[in-house]
This record gives sequence, C-alpha cells and structure tokens, in this order.
Amino acid sequence: MTTHFRRTLLERATLPYRAAGHFAWHFARGKLKGDPVFFGLLEHGLLPDGERLIDLGCGQGLLASWLLEARALHEAGNWPDGWPAAPKIESIWGLELMPNDVARARAALGDRAQVDQGDIRTADFGQADVAIILDVLHYISYEAQEDVLRRIRAALPAGGTFITRIGDAAGGLPFHYSNWVDHVIFFLRGHGIIPIYCRPLNEWLEVLQRCGFEARSLPMHKGTPFCSMMLVAKAV
Ligand SMILES: C[S@@+](CC[C@H](N)C(=O)[O-])C[C@H]1O[C@@H](n2cnc3c(N)ncnc32)[C@H](O)[C@@H]1O
Repeated sequence: MTTHFRRTLLERATLPYRAAGHFAWHFARGKLKGDPVFFGLLEHGLLPDGERLIDLGCGQGLLASWLLEARALHEAGNWPDGWPAAPKIESIWGLELMPNDVARARAALGDRAQVDQGDIRTADFGQADVAIILDVLHYISYEAQEDVLRRIRAALPAGGTFITRIGDAAGGLPFHYSNWVDHVIFFLRGHGIIPIYCRPLNEWLEVLQRCGFEARSLPMHKGTPFCSMMLVAKAV
C-alpha cells in the first residue's frame, strides 16, 4: 500500500513540472524521490494545518506541489494507514532569489500557489501560520540568519510553527561532503563560488531560542550521504 501510494504522490507532484520544461521535470523527479525531507514532513506530521504557509528560498516550488498533491490524495481517501493527516493549508507563498527558479515554479504551479522573486534578507514576510526554510540559511551571513529568524518569529502567532533543515557542522565527514556537493551545484546553477555560513546543531538550537523559538531536532538525511537535521520550532 505505502509503496503504491508513494509512487502515486511522486507522479502527481512531479507531473505539473512537464509544463516547466525538461530540466524542471527531471529535477523535480530526482529531488522529490531522492530527498527524504518530502516524505519525512508527511510521515512525521511536522506541518500543522494553517491559513498561510511561507516557503523561504523555495527553489522551483517543489514543496508547494508536494503539499497540494498530498492534501488532494488525503481528501480523496488515498492515504497510508497510520500516517498523520496531510496538512490543510489555504495558501502557499514561496520566495526565491533566482528568476529561473521562479519562472519554473510559476509554470508548474500556476495560480495554485504564489511564487515571488526576492531576497529573504530584505523581503517583507507578512503574517503566516507556518514558515519553512529548507537548505537555505547557510547561504546568508550569520547576522542575516538571526535577522531572518527574528522576522519569521514576528510573522508568526505564538504557537506558530517554523521548520528548517540545516547541515550540522559537527557532523564530520558527511557534513563536509554535503558542503562540497553544495558548492558544485551552486557553481553549476550560476551562483559562482559563494561563502557559506554553517553552525553545529547545538548552536542552531541556541540561536532559535534567542530569536523566540522552542525547538527540537530530528535527523533528515536517511538514504543520503549527508548530515542534515530538521529543526522543528514553535514560536513562544
Ligand atoms: C538548496 S536550494 C533549496 C530549494 C528549496 N528550499 C528546496 O528544498 O527544494 C536553496 C535555494 O535557496 C535560494 N536562496 C539562496 N539565498 C537566498 C536568498 N537570500 N533569498 C532567497 N532565496 C535564496 C537559492 O536560489 C536556492 O533556490
């Protein structure tokens, strides 16, 4: 049942990317299948229901496509026994720096989600019930990280959920390997050679606390050679 369900969700979430071109479709298939974060969010029930979810550094909008299709399958009664309900989210807003990614996201998602081009260091996040940042924070300076986290806190109500995935700088070889892969991919995607700003897990948890969150962590790298941790935070 679960294997069949997984294949169905993957097919449905990647299909819209056919409209965004060859690269977008292949990238969507590879990423949604190979990165444990997408099924992990659902299996662990990490995202609550909410009016507005903001996805900062959303790339080509894969998370939005994933959540929309997951909810549609759940509502149709096609959902694995024992999994928490798929989150019911009224609107999804993605913000992304790279115009090409924004164009791919818009081509795939149409009016099912809003995706804007912008920089998380300066954009106005508005108000939200849920905020998520997957694999982005290390691209901005330590000061900017804290500023973004404080502005996310201000955008959420008390009890609002913030989720982010980071690389644990205390993670040894797998951490260094993921950094190397990151540099190569970013170079190939036209960002040039950029500095990255990583922290060990304990420090991330301290920073989140300083910025007004209570957070816990769980590994989110199953089946990959990386050392990625999910930080699941509640606004206090
Ligand atoms: C590793 S990708 C992750 C994309 C997406 N979160 C996902 O999981 O599919 C990192 C993304 O963050 C974007 N990014 C980096 N710095 C950013 C910034 N300052 N503002 C907005 N987006 C940024 C990059 O362009 C890239 O699309």
